[in-house]
Formats: sequence, C-alpha cells, structure tokens
Amino acid sequence: MDYTIRTLTTKDIYEFMALTKYIDSETDFLGSAPTDPRPTQMQILSSLKSGRQLIMVASTKNGLIGHIGAFWRRGTGSRVKHCMNVGLGVAKDFWGMGIGNALMESIEVQAKQLGIVRMELEVMTHNEGAIALYKKRGFVVEGTKLKSIKIGDKYIDEHLMSKML
Ligand SMILES: CC(C)(COP(=O)(O)OP(=O)(O)OC[C@H]1O[C@@H](n2cnc3c(N)ncnc32)[C@H](O)[C@@H]1OP(=O)(O)O)[C@@H](O)C(=O)NCCC(=O)NCCS
Repeated sequence: MDYTIRTLTTKDIYEFMALTKYIDSETDFLGSAPTDPRPTQMQILSSLKSGRQLIMVASTKNGLIGHIGAFWRRGTGSRVKHCMNVGLGVAKDFWGMGIGNALMESIEVQAKQLGIVRMELEVMTHNEGAIALYKKRGFVVEGTKLKSIKIGDKYIDEHLMSKML
C-alpha cells in the first residue's frame, strides 16, 4: 500500500472536509456525530494559517485516506502551552495497514519540534483497536471519564491517555 504522510495544505481543504465527514459516518468511535455542525472551510484555513492546529494527512495517488490533528485545547498560556490534544481517523478500507501508527509517529515528531512535552487524548473505553495503537506508541491510561459521551440513549466512558514526548 503506497501512501505518504504529509502536512495538510490549503489545496486539500475540500477533500479533507469530505474525508472527515466520511470517517465520522463509518464509525461510532469519534466524539462528533455525522449530523453535528462541522468546521467550515474558513475555520480550517484560519486555523492552518495561524498555526493553532497541526493537521497531517495520509495520502495515496487516489486521494486522502486518513488524518490526524493536534491542538492546544487549553490554549497557549505559558503554563499549558507544552500540552497538546490529539485525534485521528483512518478510512475503514485502510485499517490495519500501519497508517494510524504512521500518522501518530509523524505528529509526535512535529509536536516535539514545537516543544510539546505532553500529548493527550480521550478514547472510548471499548475502542480496543485505538487503545492498542496508543499503548503501542507509549501512551498510558491516566484515568477514566465516566459517561463523557452519549450516543442515542447510551452513555459511554472514555479513558484519558497521555504520552510524555
Ligand atoms: C484507530 C485507528 C486510527 C487505527 O488505525 P489503523 O491504521 O487501523 O492502525 P494501524 O494499522 O496503524 O495499527 C497500529 C497498531 O494499533 C493496534 N491496532 C490497530 N487496530 C487494531 C484492532 N482493531 N485490534 C487490535 N489492535 C489494533 C495494533 O497494535 C497495531 O499494531 P500491529 O499492526 O503491529 O499489531 C482506526 O481504526 C480508525 O480510524 N478507527 C475509527 C476512528 C477512531 O477510533 N479514532 C480514534 C478515536 S480516539
């Protein structure tokens, strides 16, 4: 499987928006529902230009197949700017090919270059595949957020996981 991992560019925006919508529709493991309002083209462009977010994509000759984003959820104040939150998704047809791992590795390298010390994420406690990926990359479970997600009538717990870079 030939793919490259690279930073999202402004030329990718529409394809990126379609990919994230598509991945949201394929899985219930993400915090956003397919029907939720999505970031607009302008919001993505502005966050790319301002450097408020790192977005990397997995790209084949046929198009984008995965993405990962890291951002300063608590802002960039002097006491928290060393922390970033991360989230990723790969189109289902391409699961199990090492793409999630490669995306995570690339964003860790970029984050480290920016001086990030702590990467953190939330993952649903039954998302065994993602948890295995994060553990493989050295993330540890710090705790469990009870009922932090609601899908339909069902409440779901999430693990808070982190890795010191
Ligand atoms: C989680 C996700 C990103 C993994 O991407 P992927 O490209 O399939 O993962 P990789 O092929 O790089 O797998 C890397 C490692 O993760 C683990 N892993 C991945 N999927 C797994 C699964 N279904 N079961 C068990 N382990 C799994 C394995 O340890 C694997 O290493 P190995 O191949 O050496 O055994 C992908 O399944 C996905 O997009 N899921 C839907 C969205 C999602 O859950 N995002 C995370 C929200 S927190």
